[in-house]
Amino acid sequence: MDTEPLSPDATGFARAASVLQGGGLVSFPTETVYGLGADARQDKAVARIFEAKNRPTFNPLIVHVADVAATKRYVHWNDMADRLAAAFWPGPLTLVLPLRDDSGLSPLVTANLPTLAIRVPEHPVAQALLSTFDGPVAAPSANPSGKISPTRAQHVINGLSGRIEAVVDGGDCGVGVESTILGLFDEPTLLRPGGLPQEAIEAALGRPVVIRSEADPLMAPGQMLSHYAPGASVRLNAVEIVNGERLLGFGKVDGATLNLSAAGDLTEAAANLFHHLHALDADGDAPIAVSPIPDHGLGRAINDRLRRAAAPRDT
Ligand code: TXA
Ligand code: MG
Repeated sequence: MDTEPLSPDATGFARAASVLQGGGLVSFPTETVYGLGADARQDKAVARIFEAKNRPTFNPLIVHVADVAATKRYVHWNDMADRLAAAFWPGPLTLVLPLRDDSGLSPLVTANLPTLAIRVPEHPVAQALLSTFDGPVAAPSANPSGKISPTRAQHVINGLSGRIEAVVDGGDCGVGVESTILGLFDEPTLLRPGGLPQEAIEAALGRPVVIRSEADPLMAPGQMLSHYAPGASVRLNAVEIVNGERLLGFGKVDGATLNLSAAGDLTEAAANLFHHLHALDADGDAPIAVSPIPDHGLGRAINDRLRRAAAPRDT
């Protein structure tokens, strides 16, 4: 299969929508990372996502829609969802809510869970594609399973070319880490730190969120510990470089091969994170050392991704 590059214009969006309607896979940019989209109502199309990514099938997917009204066709809504949608959608927040019986979605999307992860992305290309397609798009990050999430079209092509029908090139993703996932159960529960800081969610809700621990089986399923892994080994919280390591720096550090943010800005660091990991991955096998990253705001999402990059590998 040849992967068709599509431009972010009316012709490209129409072509992308028709590929989705035909059960094909289209990668498209969101403000967080590039997604690998399929029509969420078509089982075969959704199954092809798992196939293309080599993704374990127990890992459920996020559904993307163009606006808040469209989400209500698929999930049961509540007051917390109202507040959060008003404050943060479109944007880098995914809400997990009870799935409607009449959602019409493929059960593969939710891996048979009674809940659905859904979000309204802000990126103009994602918005235009979703409006043109006018249906629910299931989309994990557009990387082979276990690899670094893509933040530009070339990353998608490097990882998935020949395995998917098309990629809409919308340039670099601004946020650079995946959406924050919040379960709206009895208590609002942080399932994955991400592009929207926990503090902002707590301010909008006027209450603290519960944090699921890695060990908790109710944690967002499929959040495997080893993930986002470059080929080289990764050592965290490095204050000095040893044994030919390459330093991925943060803040004012000497001898960094690349720096996430020389100014110590967490937003800039998040936007650079996957770009820099990709660049280091492309540039050899020497071990990677990473400077300490403050564990607040977007720093939590960055540290979460870095811990996965550093975790012991399955293979
Ligand atoms: O920013 C993002 O969220 C990107 C862009 C493309 O939108 N998407 C993304 O999808 O990161 P993915 O598949 O790589 O991560 C989705 C996460 C998985 O860890 C999955 O386990 C969790 O969402 N998830 C999906 N449905 C869930 C559910 N019903 N309950 C709990 N967790 C769920
Ligand atoms: Mg992913």
